[in-house]
Amino acid sequence: MSIPRNVPVILFGVGGVGRALVRQVLAARSRHASRLHLRLEFVALCDRTGAVVDVHGLSDDTRSALLAAKSAGTPLRQTPTGHSQPDPNIILEVAGRDGAIVIDCTASDDTCPALLMALGQGYGVVLANKRPLTGSWATYRQFMASPRLRYEATVGAGLPVIGTLRNLLDAGDQVTAIEGAFSGTLGYLCSQLQRGASYSAAVRAAHRLGYTEPDPRDDLGGMDVARKALILVRMLDWPLELTDITVETLYPAALSGLSVPQFLESIKVLDEPYAMRVQAAQAQGQALRYRAEVREGRCQVGMEPVPLDSPLGRLQGTDNLIAFHSARYAASPLVVQGPGAGVEVTAAAILADILALAALA
Ligand SMILES: NC(=O)c1ccc[n+]([C@@H]2O[C@H](COP(=O)([O-])OP(=O)(O)OC[C@H]3O[C@@H](n4cnc5c(N)ncnc54)[C@H](OP(=O)(O)O)[C@@H]3O)[C@@H](O)[C@H]2O)c1
Repeated sequence: MSIPRNVPVILFGVGGVGRALVRQVLAARSRHASRLHLRLEFVALCDRTGAVVDVHGLSDDTRSALLAAKSAGTPLRQTPTGHSQPDPNIILEVAGRDGAIVIDCTASDDTCPALLMALGQGYGVVLANKRPLTGSWATYRQFMASPRLRYEATVGAGLPVIGTLRNLLDAGDQVTAIEGAFSGTLGYLCSQLQRGASYSAAVRAAHRLGYTEPDPRDDLGGMDVARKALILVRMLDWPLELTDITVETLYPAALSGLSVPQFLESIKVLDEPYAMRVQAAQAQGQALRYRAEVREGRCQVGMEPVPLDSPLGRLQGTDNLIAFHSARYAASPLVVQGPGAGVEVTAAAILADILALAALA
């Protein structure tokens, strides 16, 4: 049997998704060798303040130790093989080799220069991080200039949203509108409101269950949904900026400066207004959903009443739903639905992107 081809992998971000990716690559190693004749070899892991680099590939023992350390909250620079490494460009120069693939599992803007440099040098790049594609239109175009960029996990986590849209467009279909619920957290909130929970109880429950970011305002602000919508809008070649999107924030600006505990305490004042919105929707046979809509060159994101018997109205809990309306899907949209978050499904989408890039080499 032939020796599997080594594919060097550089990982930025060793949080929940990054660690799940490392575990999945190891678990699938024998399958990759036997079916695809390749071996994904981590040559660098980088977090916010440090890195561990081995141009020959990190050993199994080193990788296990690093995952355990990161799970325990230890920065990479404080591990025995780690060092401070604030500049990702230097990581690329040290660790990058022909056919290398760079993965961005951060939520940072800081990785952009290194990612563009990697693409410029012919490396592959896989994004879970939405920020590189939701900066300026000019930067977005720079990323899109490379055929070695993949970003399925940026919208809908493991759901095939980007691939579905790309397939529609590549097959010459005309996508006229995209609508959906792109946030599991806000989906949970809407479902709880529909069941009669107060706004404050629903937000606190989502926070307690770990459905929200540590600061729930990061979800309630709607910007994460807006970034996902912007990625889809731009795939349609509409040159919108993030500031062009109308975004409804689900808390008043006056609560922005509070600590998280203060915020969670103060949102009782929102119970009545939201209860009234829920009642008004129910009186019309509708339910509130945090909905993104892309149509006629415009994009808006916010809480809206939708018919109970529509795909969005039937959506419950943390599932995401994305409906593509097109010339060929005119009578009824093409709908993708399922869990839109979770480290394992997200890492699996990244791994599929890595393998697609490795197959190009
Ligand atoms: N979790 C999900 O279900 C999901 C689903 C779809 C997409 N995503 C996206 O996937 C990405 C990762 O999510 P996550 O849940 O794994 O986040 P996370 O647990 O917060 O991990 C983020 C990681 O990025 C590192 N980091 C931050 N800035 C960095 C920089 N400038 N250079 C290198 N590393 C940096 C952090 O370093 P430290 O460890 O030093 O803080 C941390 O290791 C995010 O963009 C998220 O939006 C997540």
